Amino acid sequence: MVRETRLSVDNLVYPMFVVCGKGKKEEIGSMPGVFRFSVDMLTKEAQEVAGLGIPAVILFGIPDRKDETGSEALNPKGVVQEAVRALKDKVHGLTVITDVCIDEYTSHGHCGLVKDGQILNDPTLEILSRMALSHAEAGADMVAPSDMMDGRVGSIRKALDGNGFHDIPIMSYAAKYASLFYGPFREAADSTPKFGDRRSYQMDPPNAIEALREVALDIEEGADIIMVKPALAYLDIIYRVKNEFNYPVAAYNVSGEYSMVRAAANSGWLDGDRVMMEILVSIRRAGADLILTYFARDAARILNK
Ligand code: PBG
Repeated sequence: MVRETRLSVDNLVYPMFVVCGKGKKEEIGSMPGVFRFSVDMLTKEAQEVAGLGIPAVILFGIPDRKDETGSEALNPKGVVQEAVRALKDKVHGLTVITDVCIDEYTSHGHCGLVKDGQILNDPTLEILSRMALSHAEAGADMVAPSDMMDGRVGSIRKALDGNGFHDIPIMSYAAKYASLFYGPFREAADSTPKFGDRRSYQMDPPNAIEALREVALDIEEGADIIMVKPALAYLDIIYRVKNEFNYPVAAYNVSGEYSMVRAAANSGWLDGDRVMMEILVSIRRAGADLILTYFARDAARILNK
């Protein structure tokens, strides 16, 4: 009766990976219980997700074809665009969010265009805006830029507004740290950078005040929901962002945070379900409204009991 923090299925967003082809459901080695689905299988899975009362999914596409500029990301018949169409058509009441970033589509694996080993911020904005627009055209309910290029929220907002998508919200990965907790995701999405790292565009883990500046800029540019990522090693950032801005805050409980718990639970070292619930409620207690988590299905099953 006196519990201060509630975790509800309504707070959860389930990340899903989509691949080309048919009949595919491939488990990701470093993320037991998480799969890459072809569009047909994704639809079935998403029906179950919606059936559990989970309000939203976020889609990550893994294309067959990669090139220097990530051009497949703009293909109106690309893997994410097709997945959005299928989910909007077949799974009623499920909010479909798309991740907007070219790292899964570029041959070098970076989130921006590259010239002479440097990431080009401004030229990347145009591609990201066109990518977001093509997701909206396919029927996405919300777009979520995760690239961390400066100025992309404003640029995407302008592109959406200019094409009649005034009502499509932007959830920006506003304070995204250059974290090693993304390791398993990069295996899942085949997006490990082929040279260097992401430290020229993602944030330095020791910095907190800079996170507030990043968030302020994204809000100014038109972000509707702001995200802190990862969640666990950054609960203080979630807390500060919520207190400072009082905006809807999302937290991404990332792949490495999931894999650590699964690995320990599978070895019998801790009680996986209870640790999962403790972690999720801690992210809520820190101030997050939404939690993007690979645990969403398992947590929903427990919450629905
Ligand atoms: C970039 C992106 C990443 C994640 C979500 N979007 C990886 C990265 O920045 O390398 C990581 C999510 C996770 O680890 O669960 N498109």
